[in-house]
Amino acid sequence: MDHLHDIFYIHNAIMAEAAELERVVQTLSQEDAARTEGALEQFVFYKSVLEFHEGDEEEVFFPPLAARVAYGAQDYIFDHEHHRKLYGEIEGSLTGLLKAGNSGDWSGLSAKLYRQAVALHATMENHIDKENELLLPIYYENFSDEELKGLMAKMGEEADKMPQELMMRILPWMFNANSADDREGMMRGFKELVPPEMFAGMTQFLAGQVKQGDWQELVRRMPELGG
Ligand SMILES: [Fe+2]
Ligand SMILES: [Fe+2]
Repeated sequence: MDHLHDIFYIHNAIMAEAAELERVVQTLSQEDAARTEGALEQFVFYKSVLEFHEGDEEEVFFPPLAARVAYGAQDYIFDHEHHRKLYGEIEGSLTGLLKAGNSGDWSGLSAKLYRQAVALHATMENHIDKENELLLPIYYENFSDEELKGLMAKMGEEADKMPQELMMRILPWMFNANSADDREGMMRGFKELVPPEMFAGMTQFLAGQVKQGDWQELVRRMPELGG
């Protein structure tokens, strides 16, 4: 059983959003403040997801590795610190664009925001590729199946501490960012990780949030969700 697979689904969603951010900041215009406001609101959501994910990695996921493998997670924590700087810069540029309104600062600021979004997209892809392809194999080599299962259960407990509102936004966002195969893997993973009544609540909530066709495809693969 591949206990670490749950990490891939959040990673997929994080990468998809980084690509989307790069696309969106290119389409902002000085005349349309509402779109800039929408982009800022979406970025603040994205930033909270990233802060939770990276915080959980640093507090729960990395320490057991660092205890067994010298410098096991150091490189990744270093990346996170660099990311946090970029999140602040992007949020600052989006806020600045809103304030710039009709002034001449707009185009300079918007070009800067675009460079920051490109940088975040590239750096995030590199970081997540490294976690998926270099870091996770080190876990498989150094931890037993039981230990990995325990580690993911702890990550699940951390996710439970997330504010309900944020969780309710993350679930459909993750669902939409993943392929049909990954949605199935994600739901099977949740089913293992969370208590049955919570899983039932999540299922019901998601069924009402995502596209009918996407949900039906999932139920075809997991008929138990159809009840
Ligand atoms: Fe990370
Ligand atoms: Fe990660």
